[in-house]
Amino acid sequence: MRLVDSYGRQMGDLRISLTDRCNFRCVYCMPADGLPWLPNERLLTFPEIARLARIAVRMGIRDLRLTGGEPTIRPGLPHLIRMLQALRGEGLESLSLTTNGLQLATLAGELAEAGLTRINVSLDSLVREKFHRVTRRDCLDRVLAGLAELEKYPSIRPIKINAVAMRDFTEDEILAFARLARERPFVVRFIEFMPLDADGNWRRELVLPGREIRERINAWRPLVRIDDPDQSSTAQRYRFADGVGEMGFINPVSEPFCAHCNRIRLTADGQIRTCLFSIDETDLRTPLRNGASDEELAAILAMAVGQKELKHKINEGAAFQRASRSMSQIGG
Ligand code: 5AD
Ligand code: SF4
Repeated sequence: MRLVDSYGRQMGDLRISLTDRCNFRCVYCMPADGLPWLPNERLLTFPEIARLARIAVRMGIRDLRLTGGEPTIRPGLPHLIRMLQALRGEGLESLSLTTNGLQLATLAGELAEAGLTRINVSLDSLVREKFHRVTRRDCLDRVLAGLAELEKYPSIRPIKINAVAMRDFTEDEILAFARLARERPFVVRFIEFMPLDADGNWRRELVLPGREIRERINAWRPLVRIDDPDQSSTAQRYRFADGVGEMGFINPVSEPFCAHCNRIRLTADGQIRTCLFSIDETDLRTPLRNGASDEELAAILAMAVGQKELKHKINEGAAFQRASRSMSQIGG
């Protein structure tokens, strides 16, 4: 049984959230006071996650991405990475982590040793005061120390830096990020702000289109489009014409890429979401805990994928309905 939806899209990428909690409070994601957290007994255990991941890999999932909340606050993370790494023999191609970077200065070595192959670090500003304002934590130096530590482990590549781009916030740092992509082994990517913030403060005027950022960089140092063989890639990839450095632009609002979406998500409490903007979820935790067989779980997963949404409706005015959870509860 393959994970193909009703539009013929084969799922290849499963994002697994390990916790809905986070040690940051990014303004585009979480309220300052946090959210009501899931009780521990509702979180999938590592063996439960590994079992579902194995089923998904047998159905054609090639990339597993661990996310949150903040996945590094889940105790024993390297152990889970080791368990998932064992799926390489069954078709798994990459195992990545999306993190805010706060713990990397002490954790990077262990993650590399456990078998992590790629990493995405969120970093929205290179200026201490602005970093503090956007994450509500005064921790820029620790994240930068984490990135420096990561550079020592060549088995974790690429190192991607994700910056959420916001109007009247990001513009004055565009070239600083471009320099970072040229001077260090980091692929720096800008992501358009999406209406997934728990506070509900998203407005269209706050979206800084990726195209505008790219044009500013291009005027400074010419960029050349990289032909990505991976059709389902969310990012438009560019390298600098002189061959030094790569950048990416993830433009879900201004240039939706739903037609090639191959992603599904498993929330920390074991619900399948077939779109970031899903209104309904499919419960895997209950059957899992009630003794369902691998075949039964595979059938539920296939049925969920069969109902995957065609596209998000951010640009369709009244047709747009906010997702049933906010970003930290879904898992980027
Ligand atoms: N819009 C765009 N990106 C977001 N992220 C979190 N909330 C939003 C949002 N509202 C990003 C984080 C991180 C990834 C998990 O998702 O910055 O890079
Ligand atoms: Fe935490 Fe990531 Fe949400 Fe920021 S964007 S509050 S780091 S989960």
